Amino acid sequence: MNIVIIGFMATGKTIVGRKLAKKINMEFIDTDKLIEQKEKMSINKIFSEKGEDCFRELEKNLIKKISRKNNVVISTGGGVVLFSENMTRLRRNGIVICLKTRPEIILRRVEFQKGIRPLLNKSNPLKEIRDILKKREVYYKQADIFIDTTDFNVNKIVKKILKEISALTPAIS
Ligand code: S3P
Repeated sequence: MNIVIIGFMATGKTIVGRKLAKKINMEFIDTDKLIEQKEKMSINKIFSEKGEDCFRELEKNLIKKISRKNNVVISTGGGVVLFSENMTRLRRNGIVICLKTRPEIILRRVEFQKGIRPLLNKSNPLKEIRDILKKREVYYKQADIFIDTTDFNVNKIVKKILKEISALTPAIS
C-alpha cells in the first residue's frame, strides 16, 4: 500500500511526505523533484520553455511508472489531481491524503519561496490562488483523508496522518 499526498501548492506536501516516509521507514518520492532531476531543468523552466502541457505529460508518465511501486510515500505536484488517469492509478494501491490551508497562508508561503511556482507568477497572486483553488476543489475532495497544515508543525501533522490512516485501515497498521 502506498501513501499519496495531494493538495494545493505550498500546503507542505514535500516536507510532510519526506518526514512521514522516514518515520514509517518507507521510500519517499517527490514527483516534482523527480521530474526536475530527469529533465535536468527546474519546473519553472519546463513551464516557460516547454509549456504546461509538456509538464503535464511528464507528470502523467511519471505517475504511471511510480504507481506500480508498493510501499512508497508519494508527494505530488498540486495539479496532479486534474487528470483522472493520474488519480485512478494512484488510488489503485494508495491511500490519498490531502493537505490544505487558507489562501492567505499559501500566499505567505509562496512569497517566502519566491519564484518557484510558475502558475502564481501573476499580478494578483492571492486572487489566482483563490480562483485555482475553487476550480480544483472538486478534485481535491477525492482524497480519503484531509489534514489542515495551517499550523505547520511537521511532527504533529505526521502523527495526525498516521492516526487517520490507522482509523481507516486498522487491519494493516
Ligand atoms: C503545480 C504545482 C507545483 C508544480 C507545478 C504545477 C500546480 O507543485 O507541480 O508548478 O498545478 O498546482 P507544488 O504543489 O509542489 O507546488
